[in-house]
Amino acid sequence: MTYESIKLGINERVGLIRLRRPQALNALNRALLTELNQALQALDADDDVGAIVIAGDEKAFAAGADINEMAQASAVEMLLRDQISLFDGITSIRKPVIAAVSGWCLGGGNELAMACDMIVASESAKFGQPEINLGVIPGAGGTQRLTRAVGKAIAMEMVLNNRTLSADEALHYGLVNCVVPVEQYLEEAMALAREIASKAPLAIRLGKEAVNQAFESSLADGISKERRAFYFLFSSDDQKEGMQAFLQKRKAEWKGR
Ligand code: CAA
Repeated sequence: MTYESIKLGINERVGLIRLRRPQALNALNRALLTELNQALQALDADDDVGAIVIAGDEKAFAAGADINEMAQASAVEMLLRDQISLFDGITSIRKPVIAAVSGWCLGGGNELAMACDMIVASESAKFGQPEINLGVIPGAGGTQRLTRAVGKAIAMEMVLNNRTLSADEALHYGLVNCVVPVEQYLEEAMALAREIASKAPLAIRLGKEAVNQAFESSLADGISKERRAFYFLFSSDDQKEGMQAFLQKRKAEWKGR
């Protein structure tokens, strides 16, 4: 499959999707979001892929939804297009998805990064929800995921007053996993993805589901689902292999079964 607005590659069990609209700081138009979804679905279905990295370029991860595309739209047109539902595809991916963020990470770009499972940031990364300056609010999960990630006080400032977080602030408030020099951010994200991709695939899948469950349920319900997933993994070959390998002091060989 050929793509116009993204570039897709696979290396050592890691799928890498690069957003490629540098002329618009990787603003997320419908064509890009559609291709991103297609690539993510393809990587999710590929047994040779264990984890996925989404990256922009050094200057911008993505500067938000494409303003040109929506400036003149009516509410009915926006509803019928429902382009924001394309963000739902990202959270439906079963494999771990890491955002590698450098430069601008704004509006829908920040919402895309937050829809991923982890964020590796370069020192130059800048995170914000500037929609208020356009007379709107975040529409792709920003008010919800940001508040869960950084807490109410900072989320309010970002959504209501366009406060931008530096990479170090984003790390301090728990929005990102780590901050590394610009020239290393992509390799750092790829290395993290490679490490995760080398682990037991079923446990990775259920671990991701269980952590995400923490945002969707009561504590008791989440703990109950976690326990069932834990017990379920004892029906897998990988659990027998992982525990035997530990006891025999050797490296486990995972089958994903
Ligand atoms: N949509 C469309 N085009 C965009 C864009 C966007 N979100 N962000 C940047 N661009 C374009 C610019 O229009 C410019 O194009 P031209 O060269 O053709 O004029 C090009 O990218 C480079 O941008 P700038 O010249 O503005 O670069 P800068 O370095 O001076 O400023 C910036 C960088 C501060 C990020 C600035 O581009 C900016 O403020 N961008 C808009 C950010 C924004 O408001 N994002 C929220 C969008 S709404 C949204 O995302 C809704 C949602 O929740 C889903």
